[in-house]
Amino acid sequence: MDTRPIGIFDSGVGGLTVFKELHALMPHEDFIYFGDTGRVPYGTRSRETILKYASEDMAFLLSHGVKMVVAACGTASAVLTNKETDRLPVPYTGVIIPSAQAAAVATSTGNVGVIGTPATVRSGAYGRAMRNVRSDIKVTGHACPLFVPLVEAGMFEEGNPVARELAKIYLSPFLGSTVDTLILGCTHYPMLAGLIGKMLGPGIRLINPGAETARYTLNHLMARGMLQDPAHQGISRYYCTDSPEGFAEVAEKFFGSFDASQVTRVELEELSALSKEEAP
Ligand code: DGL
Repeated sequence: MDTRPIGIFDSGVGGLTVFKELHALMPHEDFIYFGDTGRVPYGTRSRETILKYASEDMAFLLSHGVKMVVAACGTASAVLTNKETDRLPVPYTGVIIPSAQAAAVATSTGNVGVIGTPATVRSGAYGRAMRNVRSDIKVTGHACPLFVPLVEAGMFEEGNPVARELAKIYLSPFLGSTVDTLILGCTHYPMLAGLIGKMLGPGIRLINPGAETARYTLNHLMARGMLQDPAHQGISRYYCTDSPEGFAEVAEKFFGSFDASQVTRVELEELSALSKEEAP
């Protein structure tokens, strides 16, 4: 048994879609969620900048004594390599390997679509991870950056005309193609799963990285005897680098209700000082 919290980080609020899956699967666990809302988005930035931010985010989680680090952010997961994550003193997972494994098993045609931020698609990380499982996988990647502000504006309902128009444009490479599996490779996209699923039809299976990562994390902790006491009622704490009210406002659009008083602001100076002490 391990009573320490699980640490989750993201560039902002979107990673709550991953947190939601983790929490649903492991209600006895304590969680620390860190959202770098002061520097979001990561997906349009350079690899070097994303790596710097991600190592500061992980240092923050380590300073809170977490037992495992989960990179909920598709972009950070795509850019971080073993070089950075093997140095962590606790187990790590991003969203790439769990979802790539699920997609490689799910596809019959071997043609898998990946949608994500420009940095995620550019990294080729999903393709590499899937080809470790099945060498003949072909990837059709497509960056969909405008889905992020769309979802944060609460415009993710199936009938929303702006969402529909944008989805029609972004999903065109997959319509009428041999792709039979699509990875929703960005924190925000599972919020659009209803619309995307309807537009692509039942012939294309959608992979939700949050759900796959939650299963992976549970199995990982269970195999190492690191789960919480099942009698414990899990507690979650949230931190962000911009206004807690802004965090709660977006979280509320995602989940209906969210109390800003649960969120603590961390100053960026504090974060970079911590990363000098704690960085892997
Ligand atoms: N969280 C990011 C991701 O999953 C999306 C937002 C951003 O670009 O930072 O890739």
